[in-house]
Amino acid sequence: ETCILIGAPVDSGKARRGCLMGPDAYRVAGLADALTTLGHTVQDLGNLAPAPADTPPGMPTHVHAPAETIGWTQTLAKAGQSAMSEGLPIFLGGDHSLSLGSVLGVANHAASTGTPQFVLWLDAHSDFHTPNSSSSGNLHGTPLAYVTGAKGFSGFPEVTNPIPENQICILGLRSVDDPERDVLQRSAIRRHDMREIDETGIAKPLSAFLDRVADTGGALHVSLDVDFLDPALAPAVGTTVPGGATIREAHLVMEMICDSGLMTSLDLVELNPFLDERGRTAQVMVDLAASALGRRVFDRPTQAFG
Ligand code: ARG
Ligand code: MN
Ligand code: MN
Ligand code: MN
Repeated sequence: ETCILIGAPVDSGKARRGCLMGPDAYRVAGLADALTTLGHTVQDLGNLAPAPADTPPGMPTHVHAPAETIGWTQTLAKAGQSAMSEGLPIFLGGDHSLSLGSVLGVANHAASTGTPQFVLWLDAHSDFHTPNSSSSGNLHGTPLAYVTGAKGFSGFPEVTNPIPENQICILGLRSVDDPERDVLQRSAIRRHDMREIDETGIAKPLSAFLDRVADTGGALHVSLDVDFLDPALAPAVGTTVPGGATIREAHLVMEMICDSGLMTSLDLVELNPFLDERGRTAQVMVDLAASALGRRVFDRPTQAFG
C-alpha cells in the first residue's frame, strides 16, 4: 500500500488553538517509520495551506472563522480526491473541521469510479450540527452533516456526492447536543453510544457495518477523533468527555478494519499537542494508525470475525 500523508494543520474549527501542531507531532511520534516497517510505501506531501476565501454572506455571525474553514475545505477536497488515485491518503489533523474537505474529496473520487462511499466516525461527538444549529459556532462540530448534504453551509463547496445516511456509522458517542439528537434519531445513520458498546462490546456493531461495506464493494473512510478515546488515556484534546473507549477497544477496532481490507482513507483529528503529556497521545494515535495498517502481535491465519 502507498500511504500518502497529507499534513492538514487546520485550527479554524474552534476557538482554542493548538491543533495546527498536530501534523508535526505525528511525524515526531514516528508515523512514517511505523508504516514503512509494516511494508508500506510512504509519501509525505508536507503541510498544506488553505485556499484564500471570503466570509460568505448568509453565514451566521456566531460561526468561528468560516472563511478559513471554507479555504481548507477547498484545499483538502482537491488534495484528497487526487491522492485517492495514488494510494491511501492519511489526513494528519488538525481539528475535525478538516473532514469537511477530506470526506468531500474521497466521496468525489468514489463517485467518479462508481464506488459507494462509506464513513466510519470514531468520536465522542456526532459532529452533526449545521452552522445554524450549532450554539458554539465551532465548525469542527459540523462535518458529518455537511457531507450528507445538509443545508446551511453557504460559501462552502457544493456537496455533489452526498454520503447516504445508511453508509455512515458512528461509534463511541457520549456527547450529542439536542438539535443533533433530533436529526440523528430520525435518520438511518448507524449510531452506537458508549452504553451500547458497554452492553454488546464494540466488535458487534463494527463487524455488522464492515460486512455491509464489503457486501456492496464500497470504499471506507475512517475518521478517528482523539476524543473517541477516554481522556485519561488520550489527554491531548480540547473537547474531552469522560467514559471513552479504552486503548484495547480502539486497537480492536483498528485491527478489525485492517483485517477487513476495506479502508481506503483515514483522518487523524483533534490532536492538540499543546495539551499533551510527553507526546503520549500522539504516540497512541500513531500506534492506532499502525494497527489499522497491519501491525499485530501474531498472525491470525484462519480466524475471521463475524
Ligand atoms: N457538539 C459540540 C459543538 O458543536 C462539540 C463538538 C466537538 N467536535 C469535535 N470534533 N471535537 O461545539
Ligand atoms: Mn481508487
Ligand atoms: Mn469530532
Ligand atoms: Mn469529538
